[in-house]
Amino acid sequence: MLQLSTNPIGIFDSGMGGLTVAKTITELMPNENIVYFGDTAHTPWGDKSISAIQAYSIKICDVLLQHRCKFIVIACHTASAAAYELVREYVGNKAHVINVIDPIVNHIRTHHTNKRIGLIGTKQTIRSNTYKKRVDMLNSNIELIALATPLLVPLIEEGFSEKEVSETILKEYLSHPDLQNIRALILGCTHYPLLKSYIQKFYQNIVDIIDASEITANVLKEYLTLHGLLNVNGSAKKIFYLSDYSEFFAKTAKIFFPDDIELEPYPLWE
Ligand code: DGL
Repeated sequence: MLQLSTNPIGIFDSGMGGLTVAKTITELMPNENIVYFGDTAHTPWGDKSISAIQAYSIKICDVLLQHRCKFIVIACHTASAAAYELVREYVGNKAHVINVIDPIVNHIRTHHTNKRIGLIGTKQTIRSNTYKKRVDMLNSNIELIALATPLLVPLIEEGFSEKEVSETILKEYLSHPDLQNIRALILGCTHYPLLKSYIQKFYQNIVDIIDASEITANVLKEYLTLHGLLNVNGSAKKIFYLSDYSEFFAKTAKIFFPDDIELEPYPLWE
């Protein structure tokens, strides 16, 4: 199907975490039109079954395709692990699809060969073993140590990301014996960049903190440029769909995107 540079970029996540990716994309590609979908009705996805995450992802893709999105960004590690292949198959040639795991794996191949690297993520991301499988395929002598950190998403979604309780819980997780002597830490959940300052403080800047939002946005820009799909004159229109109204989402979206934005309720099953 013919994609035009003026068509929007579709971005989806289980909730507000993907706003970290959306924000970086708009900073790097300020003329792009954006359609964001946060599945606030079902968040957190991190402890849902694979089939539930796949069903939510497909439903959301229908919405993004109705908007004729040229690119769909799965801005959620849990969905990237559980639903990427299915989404790609479902979307076919109607849009390009990018996940947040592959750009990170390529990044560590370039920068962290022969190193011990930590990964924190939701239960589902860690259980899926997707990162480990992809990293092992690199044959780059990278030792990946993975730890599920399920309390972090609810803390962030409840607005506690700047409260001491988040730092305390984070310290507890990062002090886990398995995570010692790492040279880099993958933030394997799009919510976690909101805790980045605590994470950097914990590691006193000696561990490379790998944030999917920057890496994915760069890969996306390269791809759009290469395929003549970068929107250079667009009006940067942004629509944010929520499957359920969330005060916290509304507040966070306003902080990330202070200019007027459209927040639209969009129940997934009605
Ligand atoms: N933001 C999602 C991720 O990147 C999942 C958070 C959740 O809903 O559990 O994994």
